[in-house]
Amino acid sequence: MSNDKAKQAAGYKAAELVEDGMKVGLGTGSTAYFFIEKLIERCKSGLKIEAIATSKKSSDQAKAGGIKLIPCDQLEYLDIDVDGADEINLQKQMIKGGGGALFREKIIACSAREMIVIVSEDKIVEKLGEHALPIEITSYGYPSIIEKLRRLDVVGEIRKDKEKFYVTDNGNLILDANMKNYSGDFRELDTKIIKIPGVIETGLFWNLAGRVVIGYNDGRAEIKGAL
Ligand code: 5RP
Repeated sequence: MSNDKAKQAAGYKAAELVEDGMKVGLGTGSTAYFFIEKLIERCKSGLKIEAIATSKKSSDQAKAGGIKLIPCDQLEYLDIDVDGADEINLQKQMIKGGGGALFREKIIACSAREMIVIVSEDKIVEKLGEHALPIEITSYGYPSIIEKLRRLDVVGEIRKDKEKFYVTDNGNLILDANMKNYSGDFRELDTKIIKIPGVIETGLFWNLAGRVVIGYNDGRAEIKGAL
């Protein structure tokens, strides 16, 4: 992918923020992959941390690299969580879940004292919604959930993996809602979506982002408190 250099720069820079003794949340996606890669390198050089991953994929990467993992039934708090985003606006509100890990990503982000967001510069937007909004829903009775979402004008496609429905690590489906023409208040809409029985979580991450590490195509990265 053409912006791999920017993603790598952001991921690697964020790994510098991890300190000895920290409990760390590991994000999911191609940018998080680079963060975990650098963190493994730092652990091999003596950094002592414990981590919990937001997906099976990130967990497998961390485990293979020798990072000590916290079992999910022992998750209480984390010092930091480092994760990517599909879009982040200037108020640091985000759409996440492009990699299908939104449910665990939100639990882990909410358990961390600070969520560090790692993005290539193209992820920063003025208005959210160009990227589809992933909504995790149960497979049980899913057409009825989709119908209730439709009544809120939330329509989209069930995510597919080749010819079959994509199934999350939690055994659920994802509806990728098209929000391109949405001009209302995302947060209000989110409150309505989450009340629908069978909706597990949405990819709207509100007031969770702490510092943002932005990677650029020339290989630079900077850490910003505000955008
Ligand atoms: C996974 C996510 C990812 O953080 C998001 O999709 C960004 O991915 P990438 O770093 O590959 O662009 O939310 O569920």
